[in-house]
Amino acid sequence: MNLKELCEARYSCRLYQEKPIEAEKLEYIKECVRLAPSAVNRQPWKFLLITDPAQLDIVKACYKREWIQTAPAIVMCLKNESECWTRRYDSHSHADIDIAIATEHLCLAATEQGLAGCWVCNFDIEMLRSTFPIPEGYDPAVLVPLGYPADEPAPKVRKPLDEVWA
Ligand SMILES: Cc1cc2nc3c(=O)[nH]c(=O)nc-3n(C[C@H](O)[C@H](O)[C@H](O)COP(=O)(O)O)c2cc1C
Repeated sequence: MNLKELCEARYSCRLYQEKPIEAEKLEYIKECVRLAPSAVNRQPWKFLLITDPAQLDIVKACYKREWIQTAPAIVMCLKNESECWTRRYDSHSHADIDIAIATEHLCLAATEQGLAGCWVCNFDIEMLRSTFPIPEGYDPAVLVPLGYPADEPAPKVRKPLDEVWA
């Protein structure tokens, strides 16, 4: 698969098979995430791979959609606001940009391995903080349920090239 084919193949999967993910595939995905760029190479992130059923239950309870119950794994993508690069002109933090790049590496790598994921940001952050041990200094930015897909991708709806590019 070339990059364009990979971008076409990646989609937001909202139904997963029970089948667990092979350790080699997880290692491959972890390495692709590790190689992501970040502002001033600060790498202000940590990723928690959650497969333990009790821990999965806690995290899934923080996202009020039935479909997440089917995910055999969830990656919690954490950002660190004190480690990231901040632009001195306006004090703008780049932690969100950094974590987004690494998260998309994760999603593309998973797709390449025949898996699927979905960006999830609409979780109950206060509930997550109070029920799950979040490492000191880190904030949950994205949850990525991960697994073998049990649904079919919908056709991609995107703005036309000439609207997006000037
Ligand atoms: C920053 C971000 C947050 C998102 N949060 C959610 C979410 O909370 N729940 C959800 O079902 N999808 C979420 N999505 C998935 C988008 O809805 C999806 O990427 C978009 O509709 C395009 O569809 P596709 O990923 O299948 O190409 C999120 C995507 C991004 C990039």
